[in-house]
Formats: sequence, C-alpha cells, structure tokens
Amino acid sequence: MNIVILAAGMGKRMRSALPKVLHSLAGKPLLAHVIDTARTLSPTRLVVVVGHGADKVREAVGAPDVQFALQDKQLGTGHAVQQALPLLDPSVPTLVLYGDVPLTRASTLERLIDAAGAERYGVLTVNVGDPAGYGRIVRDAAGKVKKIVEQKDASEAERRIAEINTGIVITPTRTLETWLASLKNNNAQGEFYLTDVVERAIDAGVEVVTAQPDAEWETLGVNSKIQLAELERIHQRNVAHALLDAGVTLMDPARIDVRGTLECGADVSIDVNCVFEGRVTLADNVTIGPNCVIRDATIGAGTRVDAYTHIEGGTTGANVVLGPYARLRPGAKLGDEAHVGNFVEVKNAVFGQGSKANHLTYIGDTDIGARVNIGAGTITCNYDGANKHRTVIEDDVFVGSDTQLVAPVRVGRGVTIAAGTTVWKDVGEGELVLNEKTQVSKTGYKRPVKKKS
Ligand code: UD1
Ligand code: CA
Repeated sequence: MNIVILAAGMGKRMRSALPKVLHSLAGKPLLAHVIDTARTLSPTRLVVVVGHGADKVREAVGAPDVQFALQDKQLGTGHAVQQALPLLDPSVPTLVLYGDVPLTRASTLERLIDAAGAERYGVLTVNVGDPAGYGRIVRDAAGKVKKIVEQKDASEAERRIAEINTGIVITPTRTLETWLASLKNNNAQGEFYLTDVVERAIDAGVEVVTAQPDAEWETLGVNSKIQLAELERIHQRNVAHALLDAGVTLMDPARIDVRGTLECGADVSIDVNCVFEGRVTLADNVTIGPNCVIRDATIGAGTRVDAYTHIEGGTTGANVVLGPYARLRPGAKLGDEAHVGNFVEVKNAVFGQGSKANHLTYIGDTDIGARVNIGAGTITCNYDGANKHRTVIEDDVFVGSDTQLVAPVRVGRGVTIAAGTTVWKDVGEGELVLNEKTQVSKTGYKRPVKKKS
C-alpha cells in the first residue's frame, strides 16, 4: 500500500511562523504522529506532500522511509495528491491521510483498508452533531454514496446531512492519475477537490464504500490553537485511561501529561500534576509525588520520588528516596537505597548502595561508593573554568557539612571529612581530614544599630 500525507497547507489560523503540521501534540509534531501511525500499517511507499514551510517540515520529519513531494501552490486537496503520484506504486492502493489530523487509530484505518480492498474506493466518514464546515456525504435512495459536496458548494438540503467526509480516503492507484487529471476547479473555492474523485470513480464503475472510526475525536483536525489544546487534552485523557487500565494509580487522570512513552510496572502510583517526557520507565511499586517533571529516566522498584522533583535523565536502583525538590541531570546513577534529598543536584555522578545526600548539595562528575554520607552544603567543585574534573569518594566516607571537594580529587575508603573543609588533595584511607582554622571569641562586641532616617 502507498500512503500519502497531505501537509502543504499554511494553517493561517494558528497565527504562528511555524508550519501548522509542526506544532506539538504531546511533545511531538502533529505530522510525526500521523507518520508514526502510517508506519504501523507498513506502507511500501510513504509520501508527505509539503508546501508551506517545506524545508522546515522536511528537516523535522525526514527519515529514510519518508519521501517528499512538493506542492508549490496550494491549489486544493486533489492537486496535492497529484504531486505525490510520480512517487507511488500504481499496482497497490493509496491511502490519503492529513498531516493535521493526529489522533486517528491504526485500527480505524485498517477497517477502511479492509472495506475497500484493492478495487474499491473507500471514504472514512463520521456522523457528527454539527457538520458545519465539512464536506457532506450525499447518498442515493439505496444508501450508496453518490458524491461528496463541500460546505460552500452545498444546497440547503445537503447542509442538513450529518454524515461528513473526514478527508481520509483509500483509492486504487492506477486509475487515480486520470481521475485527478480530469478534476475541475469551477467551485466555490476555486480549488481542485480530492472529494470530486468520488464521482469519477462511480463513473468508472468503481464501487465507493465507507467505514467509520471508533470515536469521533480520531478524525478531528487542528486548524487553531484552541483545537490543538482540545486534541492535547483528548490525547492525554486517552493516555491516562490506558495507564489506569494497566493498573497504575493516578490520583487524578485529568492532571498527568505524558509527552513521550511512560512504562509502568505493577502497583505504581502517580500523584497530581506530573509531566513525563521522552522515555520514562517506572518499575514495580514506584511512587511519584505531586508536581514532578521526569524526562528520560529509569526508576527502580520501590523507589519514592517526592514532590517537586525534577529528573532530566538518570537511573535509580531499587528503594531509592528522591526529593522533595531533588534534581537529577543526565548521567545521574543512584544505587539501591540511595537518598537524594531537597535542593540536591546530581549530574553525571554515581551513588553507590545506601549513599545519601539529603540537603543542599551539588554533586557533579563524581563517583561515590557505598554507604557514604554527604553532609548538607557539600559542593563538588568540578569545573576549573575551562575543564571538568572527577571527584572520587570511596565506600564509607563521612563528608561533613559545608565541604568543598576541588576536583580532580580522591577520598579514600572510610575517610572522615570535618565540617567546613576544603579538600583539594587526595586523602588516604581511614584518615580524618580538616582545614586548620581557629575560632576566636571576643567580649564586649557591639552590633551596629540601624540609623534613623
Ligand atoms: C477537506 C475536505 C472536506 C473534509 C475536510 C475534513 C476537500 C476538498 N475537502 O476540507 O470534505 O470534510 O477536509 O477536515 O478535500 N492541503 C494541501 N494542499 C492543498 C490543500 C490542502 O496539502 O492544496 C492539506 C492541508 O494542509 C490539510 C488538508 O490538506 O492538511 C485538508 O485541507 P483543508 O484546506 O483543511 O481542507 P478542508 O477545506 O478542511
Ligand atoms: Ca481542514
């Protein structure tokens, strides 16, 4: 099968410099949703018709299995399909999709494909409460499709028809060339309508059949930011319902956003207002507190991610405790039972089993062994202004509060670092390390008093 995706339109009503089909739904361009659905149908040719912002569109969705046809001027949907013809295999049918209709399910398309087979012309139609603006499906007394008439060309009686053209059609390809070549643009919009092909097919003795989607939202297109926001909500509701169906506890299915893929084990629980981006995996018994943002992360079994934690890449072992207000950046790897607490930032660093940094700390480019305790206010000084260096802290080290570790530096097994120490030289196993400072107390000191103005 060939698949042609129409994506040449400008989308004036988006009021944006970005081509309409590149606006994001769930973190991914609208057109990428359509291409991904198309791929699940294993087309032998996949052609995207581009026009407005063609270069940007090509760059955004270009892939070895995608070909592009350029429609210089947007002279109508029929004209758009015509531009793709030279790239199609005439021996198999062609399915036409829209780059701005992102949520159509593959199962619905398969129903249309099956209904049409290799010989028939198939139209995906749907009965709607308010058909205004859509092409109407006109049937004869026997219920057979006669034609599709656009809103602007329709009579009063035709405008009352509730069955509309979703725009998605499948057609034999060999005959399509002559049908498209014979289209006229003597209609209200002066365009070459793909919808007029229905009458050409009937004249040629080709049967026209219809199929319907499971849900109306599958056929909704995006023409404005309002419609984009509405489809985003529909999509997020669907994702939330799929998670609930899989046994995930969501404190409120209306307050979760998944912009990518979220895989969950058994008995995962997610509180409100969490955003998941990229590829996120939550193993069994993971609990996510409210208001967390988690991107590209693998969270181990039994781990608790408390409120307001921000993860931008990282992995945790089992039974880790994170947050509230923790931040993991790319390359953060926390071993089993590690704790990373409030206002602790971890970047490109490994925590061994049971190691803890509970408060106000920056750990970057660091290897921490097992059972290490990092006191509040510890900073790894990993950057010398030009290059990054590594800090190594071996097993069972105790890092006193307000310590600075100036990398590159190695702290041996079992070392104790006194509070307020700046460590800039390696420390041997089991040693106590401190900076000599004296504490001075003076009597009779008077605090300054605020001047009266
Ligand atoms: C089209 C259908 C209408 C259907 C509706 C469903 C026609 C004539 N009408 O109307 O029956 O109910 O979709 O939403 O087909 N495009 C191009 N090149 C063009 C024109 C359009 O690539 O020259 C693309 C647009 O970018 C868009 C899609 O085709 O993705 C539909 O075009 P649009 O102008 O929105 O068609 P409608 O008037 O909505
Ligand atoms: Ca439209």
